[in-house]
Amino acid sequence: MPTVEDIRTTTRPVTMLTAYDAPSAAVVDEAGVDVVLVGDSLGNAVLGYDSTLPVTVDQIASHTGAVVRGVDDALVVADLPFLGYGVDESETVENAGRMLKEEGADAVKIESGRHTVDLTARLTDLGIPVMAHLGLTPQHVKQLGGYSRQGVEQSHADEIRDLAAAHESAGAFSLVLEHVPSNLAAAVADDLSLPVVGIGAGSETDGQVLVLTDVLGLSDRAPAFAEQFGDVAGEMERAVSAYRDAVLGGEFPAGEHAVAADDLDFGSG
Ligand code: KIV
Repeated sequence: MPTVEDIRTTTRPVTMLTAYDAPSAAVVDEAGVDVVLVGDSLGNAVLGYDSTLPVTVDQIASHTGAVVRGVDDALVVADLPFLGYGVDESETVENAGRMLKEEGADAVKIESGRHTVDLTARLTDLGIPVMAHLGLTPQHVKQLGGYSRQGVEQSHADEIRDLAAAHESAGAFSLVLEHVPSNLAAAVADDLSLPVVGIGAGSETDGQVLVLTDVLGLSDRAPAFAEQFGDVAGEMERAVSAYRDAVLGGEFPAGEHAVAADDLDFGSG
């Protein structure tokens, strides 16, 4: 069972996937993935919203508990949702602490910026391990006007590099770097000793993360940088159609699915 310290110091690529419920978290865990992230991508991937903004602390807490119950080995990281941190310090500590104390998570992730450096230090000091997140931070979609690649201008790339170093100094044990040029991601990974886990950031980071529904082929809109490794939607459709056909055709339930009670008597008719 990896600890945050194992992840912080590992010398091999870190594998990370999102999961939102116990059975899929169990599959991810049994496949040997190091870190399961209960991402606020819950909003798009599972709850049917078109952004992560409506996701609440209660929803992340509930899904984190489910994931923790499904996992034996992997590190579980709970993603603090939009406005679930950074507004008021004691509320941030309460929300982050709740993920560890009540739901059993090992760490929290926060979408990072200038405003989260001190917060990262505060949470870390309190014993709440923090995974930082820079580059594209989808909770800023209204400000960014979309989900475009970040750090393409020199000044912004330099700012991301500086913020990455500041979050490492503040105590973050790892950093997600999303949708940035691959040479920027390589430079950040080179700068830092903590693992930089990339998504849409090329191959020269210290690990990779994707959204589980994109990997499984269950998303209707996966980003271009994601890769579909299976066709779970197709398999679900085949199973559901087979069930429907079996009911309509009278093949289900079959004899082995029905048990009569010999002691019951309904008369001979
Ligand atoms: O919410 C999420 O799933 C994430 C990953 C894309 C890193 O933040």
